[in-house]
Amino acid sequence: MGFPDQKYLGAFYIPLLFQLVPQKYRRNLALNLIAISPHYFGQHRKSIQNISRQNFLETEHKRMVNDRQSMVERAVKPYINQEMTVLDHGCGPGYLAQAAAQYCRRVIAVDISAGVIACAKEINSQPNITYLTENKSDRLSQVGDSSIDFIYSFAVMLHVTDDVCEQLLKEFFRVLKPQGRVICEFRLESPENKNLAIEGSGKKKSLFQRVLDKYTLRVVNRPLEKIERFMQNSGFEIVSFSENPGYSNGYYTFVLKSTQFAKVSDITVSV
Ligand SMILES: C[S@@+](CC[C@H](N)C(=O)[O-])C[C@H]1O[C@@H](n2cnc3c(N)ncnc32)[C@H](O)[C@@H]1O
Repeated sequence: MGFPDQKYLGAFYIPLLFQLVPQKYRRNLALNLIAISPHYFGQHRKSIQNISRQNFLETEHKRMVNDRQSMVERAVKPYINQEMTVLDHGCGPGYLAQAAAQYCRRVIAVDISAGVIACAKEINSQPNITYLTENKSDRLSQVGDSSIDFIYSFAVMLHVTDDVCEQLLKEFFRVLKPQGRVICEFRLESPENKNLAIEGSGKKKSLFQRVLDKYTLRVVNRPLEKIERFMQNSGFEIVSFSENPGYSNGYYTFVLKSTQFAKVSDITVSV
């Protein structure tokens, strides 16, 4: 039950392609690969229609740099300093890691897709960023116990199954130092976006649904109670959560700390 791994650019031959292509073409290869996904480069945007391919790639790359820079300044920078080792979970092409690396000692950036890591190394490389490909969707097998001061994970948990989500939170708990904080994005379920393909529902999926699961990044909307249960089972409490600015469709950022679970009534909500 559930979705297959949401491994965008995960095909085994993508890192090989980078080795075959001469160095001077690798940046362009990375930008072209990233452009395949509407998650990063917006082919649909009016302002970038009718421009050359190269201009489009550079314009969208710059837009992503600026977008992730402001995300880091708003959501991550307040929690980190130059002494810290920070984990970027589900780093994708590394735009967040690149921005965060300015404000901490080291960023360990982990993704399940070897292809996207190959792109990140090409376009968002810094001496204090270590990119790692994780082979198991529910593990951080190359990250040591209590070795991380701060973890952030944007646009990842909302693409994974419940089992993987809960296990990953347990992994966050394992690798985080006792006083560490986690920032994690989820999409909250509402009457408008109630998930039809809920994992474990026991319903047989249609062929269309199975094709959709295989080839698109699916979004899992979860009720708050379920997210709280995952946190509780993993040893975290919610410090606060707030809807992401610029969105009004249920994307929330949760701040977590390890210790005892807080009651819903104790939690600060800002919308
Ligand atoms: C929508 S992208 C977000 C990338 C980045 N966090 C950002 O906001 O720019 C989701 C990323 O999570 C990665 N991912 C999905 N499931 C994962 C898992 N179980 N473990 C590690 N990475 C995962 C995907 O390969 C993809 O690169």
